[in-house]
Amino acid sequence: MAGARGSFGTRFGFILAAAGSAVGLGNIWGFPTKVGQGGGAAFVLVYLVCVFLICAPIMIAELAVGRRTGKDPVGAFNVLRPGTSWWLTGALGVLAGVGILSFYSVIAGWTIAYIYYAATGAVTGDSAATGDFFGQFVGNAPLSVGLTALVLGVTAATLLGGVKGGIERMTKTLMPMLLIILGLLAIRAVTLPGAEAGLAYYLNPDFSKVFDIRVFNTALGQAFFSLSLGMGAMITYGSYLSKGENLAKSAMWVVVIDTAVALTAGLIIFPAGFSLAGFDPNSSGPGLIFVVLPQLFATMPGGTLVGVAFFVMLLFAAITSTISLLEVPTSHLIDSRGWERKKAVYVLTAITFTLALPSALGNGASAFFSSLPGVGMGFLDLMAIIWNDFALPVGGFLLSIFVGHVWRVDKALEELNTGGAMPGAALWGFLIRWVCPAAIFMIIVFTALDLLG
Ligand code: PFF
Repeated sequence: MAGARGSFGTRFGFILAAAGSAVGLGNIWGFPTKVGQGGGAAFVLVYLVCVFLICAPIMIAELAVGRRTGKDPVGAFNVLRPGTSWWLTGALGVLAGVGILSFYSVIAGWTIAYIYYAATGAVTGDSAATGDFFGQFVGNAPLSVGLTALVLGVTAATLLGGVKGGIERMTKTLMPMLLIILGLLAIRAVTLPGAEAGLAYYLNPDFSKVFDIRVFNTALGQAFFSLSLGMGAMITYGSYLSKGENLAKSAMWVVVIDTAVALTAGLIIFPAGFSLAGFDPNSSGPGLIFVVLPQLFATMPGGTLVGVAFFVMLLFAAITSTISLLEVPTSHLIDSRGWERKKAVYVLTAITFTLALPSALGNGASAFFSSLPGVGMGFLDLMAIIWNDFALPVGGFLLSIFVGHVWRVDKALEELNTGGAMPGAALWGFLIRWVCPAAIFMIIVFTALDLLG
């Protein structure tokens, strides 16, 4: 029946699709923002440790669960441990797919408008005016809602084409273009006047910050989100893989591409930012991408082209991620509920769009959703906290316990070794059993305490 539920056509196609899921707003917007808040190069170092010691083993584990069972996240746990409650871990992932997509699609929509604004020179070089412009733009209800619908529409249309004809084809087109634009922008950024200060900030670590628990917490959370872990996206994509593939090798490709893109995004943003007078790398939220950079594009020679290229790249990165966010719940309805793909995609897109409305309206258009009474934040931020800061780490924690201690390492290795013996198998077993759950547990507790305190 594998043919009926779809599969990737080639190994290259799978790697690009999985890397497409991983490379997203999290890399180009999230990573540089977190580097700025976390104090520069020290954060980058801690991030790299988190990626390779904690996240890479989890990605391998997710792929193993997916390919062994050939099922969506809920079905996968039901196949490996029928009659237990482990399927709830998969269910949390399915819900997280809808939850994350509901606000991710709003921000992805902004990038579409900014392609147009960059092309038409709507944004000027004046800092206050750029900020006001952004504030007015996100507060425009019909525009925000329309752009969100557009992003969800493109995502749904891609999924209707199936795994090979839709997801694989779309990511094979967008990812190479994204990587080319990224490379060209990096070259342009590091050759800007004043770029050295940005590079120094980005690349010289302040070692006193390396052992800061806050830095570790942010870095691991960011790495999780960036690699699309903890919600079964890699279980789902792994379920479309053939037995001949070496999972650990494919996972490493995805990890390396995602990390390289994040690092390169920093190489663009920091030199670019520091080349502007009065730049504060600590500026958080949408400021960096939608307020600071447009000022630079408005003033630098050839800035119109660079600005358009930048936002096109951001849109491509976002779309290859929204595809995977919607595919997780879609695969669930197909596999576990026996729905047709078309029906699953339509129903889920409608649900996601409804849940996206308060996020789209919560940036100025509706006072209520912009600052929820008694919560002290807008709806979009609340969604990000629930799904990114809690659901993903909880999902990753449960998955590592499941693979390390319930399904067990030797069984997982049977699956991992089908495409050739996996190098570093013993190290992987140790990391997934002890290091991953302990580290993730710590960040869940720390995030909860931080929120309450
Ligand atoms: N990895 C994506 C990013 O960095 O923007 C976000 C994401 C996509 C998270 C898919 C989780 C997921 F399943």
